[in-house]
Amino acid sequence: FRLPAIENEAPKTFAPNSAERKQLAEALKHVKANAPYIVPCFVNGVKVETGNFDEQRNPSDHNTVLAKYHQADSTLIDKAIRGALAAKTKWEAMPFSDRATIFLKAADLLANKYRYKVLAATMLGQGKNAWQAEIDACDELVDFWRFNAKYAEELYSQQPPKNSPGVWNRVEYRALEGFVFAVSPFNFTAIAGNLVGAPALMGNVVLWKPSPAATLSNWFVYEILLEAGIPAGVIQFVPGPAPEICERVLANPDFASLHFTGSTNVFRKLWKDIGNNIEKYRSYPRIVGETGGKNFHVLHKSLDRSGVHNAAIQTIRGAFEYQGQKCSATSRVYVADNLLTQFKEFLLQEHAKISVGTVEGWYSFVPANFLGPVINKAAFDKVKSYIKWAEDDDESDVIAGGTYDDSKGYFIQPTIIFTNNPKSKTMVEEIFGPVVTISSYAADKYEETLHLVNESTQYALTGSLFAKDREAIVIGNNILRNAAGNFYINDKSTGAVVGQQPFGGGRGSGTNDKAGSWSLVIFLFYFFWFTLVF
Ligand code: SER
Repeated sequence: FRLPAIENEAPKTFAPNSAERKQLAEALKHVKANAPYIVPCFVNGVKVETGNFDEQRNPSDHNTVLAKYHQADSTLIDKAIRGALAAKTKWEAMPFSDRATIFLKAADLLANKYRYKVLAATMLGQGKNAWQAEIDACDELVDFWRFNAKYAEELYSQQPPKNSPGVWNRVEYRALEGFVFAVSPFNFTAIAGNLVGAPALMGNVVLWKPSPAATLSNWFVYEILLEAGIPAGVIQFVPGPAPEICERVLANPDFASLHFTGSTNVFRKLWKDIGNNIEKYRSYPRIVGETGGKNFHVLHKSLDRSGVHNAAIQTIRGAFEYQGQKCSATSRVYVADNLLTQFKEFLLQEHAKISVGTVEGWYSFVPANFLGPVINKAAFDKVKSYIKWAEDDDESDVIAGGTYDDSKGYFIQPTIIFTNNPKSKTMVEEIFGPVVTISSYAADKYEETLHLVNESTQYALTGSLFAKDREAIVIGNNILRNAAGNFYINDKSTGAVVGQQPFGGGRGSGTNDKAGSWSLVIFLFYFFWFTLVF
């Protein structure tokens, strides 16, 4: 059994009159007509209805309830852990090829049978337009499941390079002893599917706490895994209140790993809780997290006119696609002063082409109308407070956008702030919304500026350098080496592709494990060396 070579799933473009556009329109109609969906917990192969409901609303229209979901309580969490551990023996003993076929089947089901249903749930529930939903819920998740299988196959085939005469060494990869706790974010359906899929593929059992704001799309993904044949107990679906669930899970002696994507603060809190419980655990837990970012674009003085135009378009895309709610979103821009006038001109010109609206319209992806709502009231209020702060700040000017309206959905106009202070609040704090701050630097102070970029925030997730001069690129690459897990040249800071740009950052942005790559090994006990001497 050898898996064939894997290609990235080709994104649909939803061209006018295309079959895919019709299918998506049908799916949107269908999901809206069936809302509110009742979403259960799913433990040990059966639905569990606790009767303790919470709701997921449509952020484009907050009066609409999209899903009502049963929340897990402590008793159910304990049951889910016991059931997962019971399921583990068979699951990890199953040949890898059998486990892999389940995820390959799930990828095919998502790509070919349920694509539009999952897209519709991601659009309506998480506020993505068709293109943003497509590159997330379908392409990226399909890629994660397929590429992971291929990477895992390569890992499992590794054997010791050398045996001495009369000695037989054998490497065995094993799942973690205990269970994995996957806590997934609202902003990518694909990340949720990967947070549970990667460890399960490697023979682990997983408790999955989805984000309340992504319940419906995540439930549809879970149903796909069930249809693909994931055995009872291997992935337990337990939506519910984060504090209670996390507390219960992290107090369990068989807790073996946290697989997390979300905010820096929550990740640190969970890490501390794990530390406080450390003596209870059978094994030292593996903690894998991808958290916040304050992602940069730097423009070097060597750019020509078309280079500056490109930087402006990439800044608009990086900052405003999905309303700036990608952890990789462009959030601070440093422009050499010889380019400032031209850059601002292009930026405002491109900004004028984009607009905000509900996510059901049809958009080309650049640079036309492509913003939907932010995810909820808390996000709306947070972004608003940063805009207000900038309006009051003597060193900052809101040069575009700056208005908002939550009467129907949580809509915020894409906002550009210009500041004279490269260390201002909006240049260093993560906002996680459609706001980007620009500052300029003296063109001959390039290296000093790169050091400032490197040192002025706690994060190191993504960043981009725009330059024509090769030496400037080499210098940038050296100074910014640790400032971004994903570092781009002349391209935006968002949009890593599975298998091509493994994704993840360091410092306050995460544990530097790369999603979409061979780093699946983190879910295995490393090498078990068997040395038999004859
Ligand atoms: N992988 C996404 C990107 O690169 C963020 O999670 O934009």
